[in-house]
Amino acid sequence: MEKIIRPETMERITTKELADAFIAEQVAEIRAQVGDKKVLLALSGGVDSSVVAALLIKAIGKQLVCVHVNHGLMRKGESEQVIEVFGKELDANLIYIDATDRFLDKLAGVAEPEKKRKIIGNEFIEVFDEEAAKLEGIEFLGQGTIYPDILESDGVKAHHNVGGLPEDMKMGLVEPVKLLYKDEVRVVGSALGLPDSMVYRQPFPGPGLGVRCLGAITRDRLHALREADAILREEFDKNGLAGKVWQYFIAVPDFKSVGVRDDKRYEGWPAIIRAVNTVDAMTATIEEIPYELLHHITHRITHEVEGINRVCLDLTPKPIGTIEWE
Ligand code: XMP
Repeated sequence: MEKIIRPETMERITTKELADAFIAEQVAEIRAQVGDKKVLLALSGGVDSSVVAALLIKAIGKQLVCVHVNHGLMRKGESEQVIEVFGKELDANLIYIDATDRFLDKLAGVAEPEKKRKIIGNEFIEVFDEEAAKLEGIEFLGQGTIYPDILESDGVKAHHNVGGLPEDMKMGLVEPVKLLYKDEVRVVGSALGLPDSMVYRQPFPGPGLGVRCLGAITRDRLHALREADAILREEFDKNGLAGKVWQYFIAVPDFKSVGVRDDKRYEGWPAIIRAVNTVDAMTATIEEIPYELLHHITHRITHEVEGINRVCLDLTPKPIGTIEWE
């Protein structure tokens, strides 16, 4: 495939005015490309797919069919937000699939990180393809490809790539933000009226909490991870760290230690806090979190989350530790 190159004359989109001009131009282009046909989009709720969805809704309304696959590995509240913003507020043509059981059943007993990733990726394609096969008259596929994806690869986002679609379902691609950098996608998203919590969301890996529920995933440990992660996010939000720290999350390993709760022996998993800063995710440094806040977060997690009895802090920069644990 020939590489697409961003013209040197293209101005960096930094303001609402520039974003509005970009949106108007794209709306016209999308309408010209799509006509009265239908477009299918895998909407993860991440920044890129959300902005593409909002742009397409503006351009072609109900001719866009969004499919949100909940793989059961989303953070707390994420799928709900997709339904709220796109299904309700923007009145999109949204198909919501709760595939939690399918994913977790396939992942049961699988401890090896690469195998877990593969299962999640393949299952995603399978679920999405099954849905696509049920739809009629889809001629285009929307994709949240952004310029760094093109610079880094052949322009197709690995886990958005619906590689499994049957041959006779060959579709044209609609990639309206493919020349934009991430910061520009965010400005465009804001101009389209998407909430800050979506537009300025920290990066979240495709396999989701699957790579943070370390080893073989169990539903109870996954639940504990999701709740602990929600507390961490809430406290970072409240204490001004959310906008300052590039990525922060909890990982929960697959072992227990002894503790005491209500005067009784209480065995539980540790919750490991990881909070890093980086420019390009190739290297990362450790964010200093005030001790007082760490104590508060520790207290909340150990008292509010069933199954967690310790909180640890990961102080390892990248290299040598990768950002994710798996
Ligand atoms: P690592 O762990 O390699 O992560 O230091 C660097 C950045 O990439 C994210 N990441 C992923 N993103 N699919 C994604 O879309 C993945 O499989 C994946 N694995 C890691 C990670 O969260 C970090 O921001």
